[in-house]
Amino acid sequence: MSFTKSLLHWHEYENVRQMPWKGEKDPYKIWLSEIILQQTRVEQGWGYYERFIESFPTIQSLAKAKDEKVFKLWEGLGYYNRCKNLLHTARFITNDLEGKFPMNYTEMLLLKGIGPYTAAAICSFAYNQPYAVLDGNVFRVLSRVFGVETAIDSTEGKRIFSQLAEISLAKKEAAKYNQAIMDFGATVCKPANPLCSHCIMKNNCIAFKEGKVNLLPIKEKVLSKKVRYFSWFVLHIKDEIFVHKRIANDIWQNLHEFYLVETDAQPHWNEKAVEEFSQNQFGEKPLSISVSKEMIQQLTHQRIKAIFVEIELLQKPIPLKSQTWLKKEAIKNLAFPKMAKEYLEEVVIEKKYDENGGRN
Ligand code: ADE
Repeated sequence: MSFTKSLLHWHEYENVRQMPWKGEKDPYKIWLSEIILQQTRVEQGWGYYERFIESFPTIQSLAKAKDEKVFKLWEGLGYYNRCKNLLHTARFITNDLEGKFPMNYTEMLLLKGIGPYTAAAICSFAYNQPYAVLDGNVFRVLSRVFGVETAIDSTEGKRIFSQLAEISLAKKEAAKYNQAIMDFGATVCKPANPLCSHCIMKNNCIAFKEGKVNLLPIKEKVLSKKVRYFSWFVLHIKDEIFVHKRIANDIWQNLHEFYLVETDAQPHWNEKAVEEFSQNQFGEKPLSISVSKEMIQQLTHQRIKAIFVEIELLQKPIPLKSQTWLKKEAIKNLAFPKMAKEYLEEVVIEKKYDENGGRN
């Protein structure tokens, strides 16, 4: 099944996500929900959306509102320019466009506060016009399924992803397709801990097949972040350990590492979280788990906060099967970043193995 068909199939049969703006056809309400969701997460945005709609059920009622009342409802969302634009555009549509929301993508783009993403969302959700949305969820899903390793925030990346989004769009079912890809990205193909083992796409997902789910999407900007959180999964199967060579244009290029999961925030790897992650990524519960303390390495322009999560698995996860697995004697000869080398020498190598290959 093609990516588009699989996604629509997932949407039809497996997508249970409920949100108050889902299936909405009123462009005003869609616009409002999208602007709120540019500010905050769905869980928090939900209440704001409902309070706004209750106070201002139509664009005309919003246009007539006192500025203070609207700003009060926006309170806590931050970035008040968005709220100002919302009010400005509601008044413009009410007063200058006879209260009629434009139905045309290009006309929508002329409105203050409406950019390509919002215009695509409104055109597709309200009018089922064939415009593909391109947000963080979409970049992530496309980069993983199609195995695109070009940075999503590079000029070349923007071109590639726009093209891919356009090709993948179900042109006659744009509303469904756009909602499906956003929900799929938010609930299955999540940034951290994606649900790969249960994913309908797993046999067609290049990132999954090549063991790169946690390396994609690639962002140029990440490279200039001040603090980065690395979780290095030290995967043991009998007496072998998974090893990956860092080839990307990033710190420590050509050095080796364990299975890396980089997150935007500090991760919390308790037993349950590790078990869930392992189930989702490797298809099995670990036989044993050991989580290190956080280690920090200050580089010239960034600080790396690393945690080592050692797990023992019964068998090699299918996507990682054909990658490098080495015995510790062989690993000793490879070059690792300082923190990983220390951990390897002090913790991993020190551990004894019994004659069956299992760890004592
Ligand atoms: N994020 C932004 N818009 C969304 C939508 N319509 N559904 C789910 N997540 C979203």
